[in-house]
Amino acid sequence: MADPDLAKRRLSLRLRGESAFGLKSVAMDSKGLHALQAAKQPAARPKASPPPLLASTEAESLPVEPNSTEFTDPVASRPEKVSLLANMDISQVKPCVRCRLCKTRKNTVFGEGDPDAAIFFIGEGPGENEDLQGRPFVGRAGELLNKMIAGMGLRREQVFIVNIVKCRPPDNRVPAPDEVEACTPYLVKQLEIIRPKVIVTLGLPSAKYMLASKLSMGKLRGQWHNWRGIKLMPTYHPAFLLRAYTEENRAAVWSDLKKVLTEVGLPIPGKSAK
Ligand code: URA
Ligand code: SF4
Repeated sequence: MADPDLAKRRLSLRLRGESAFGLKSVAMDSKGLHALQAAKQPAARPKASPPPLLASTEAESLPVEPNSTEFTDPVASRPEKVSLLANMDISQVKPCVRCRLCKTRKNTVFGEGDPDAAIFFIGEGPGENEDLQGRPFVGRAGELLNKMIAGMGLRREQVFIVNIVKCRPPDNRVPAPDEVEACTPYLVKQLEIIRPKVIVTLGLPSAKYMLASKLSMGKLRGQWHNWRGIKLMPTYHPAFLLRAYTEENRAAVWSDLKKVLTEVGLPIPGKSAK
């Protein structure tokens, strides 16, 4: 049975999360309370078992997505992951000339984070700052992404962050289809190595690619999708949020991220280990 004190403490934690998104109010319905309760009981799952394809409560509503062949190889150990990722970066991505973006890049941007991360964010492509530093999401959009992650009660180092293309498209244009096609084998390999529990796509280009979908962000976001047996949540790109910093958009992103936290068995918003 629900303990009212516990529910209150959770509500206050949740409010902290809401305020991290600049939201003042919290809509607390019974579904939300259930989510809070569910978040308290992370399933103790053996590490090597594959992530659940469907969360029990959402199983019926999940659309069937293309590209859903599950990875079958066992998950690598952490040291193996570290070395596989470093090898891919050094021997394949850094010297990559598979598409025209190699001509204008200053640095490739492999991605970074915890190789055992449960949550894997996919942005669009490096911008100017990212190209200069060789790291993903280090500019203004990155600042907001960091805030979003902090609002989830996590540190950036606890998740993994990549882009669909590893080199900056000139003038920050959307990556062209042939560039995406050339580059995404790296992304797929990163996912195969890391095997997160949840993928969060940021913005339409990464959602479109992952789900082979023509639907709008409004239709895609907020719902669970399936990518090769890994649950995928599309949400707005932080750069879009910066341009359209409305209560409605922030609430939408926060609502999507709360679903992610619940799915990975973390409290809402959770406490960061300081
Ligand atoms: N926007 C992105 O999509 N990726 C980055 O790394 C930075 C900004
Ligand atoms: Fe290679 Fe990807 Fe860079 Fe194109 S964007 S050159 S495919 S690493």
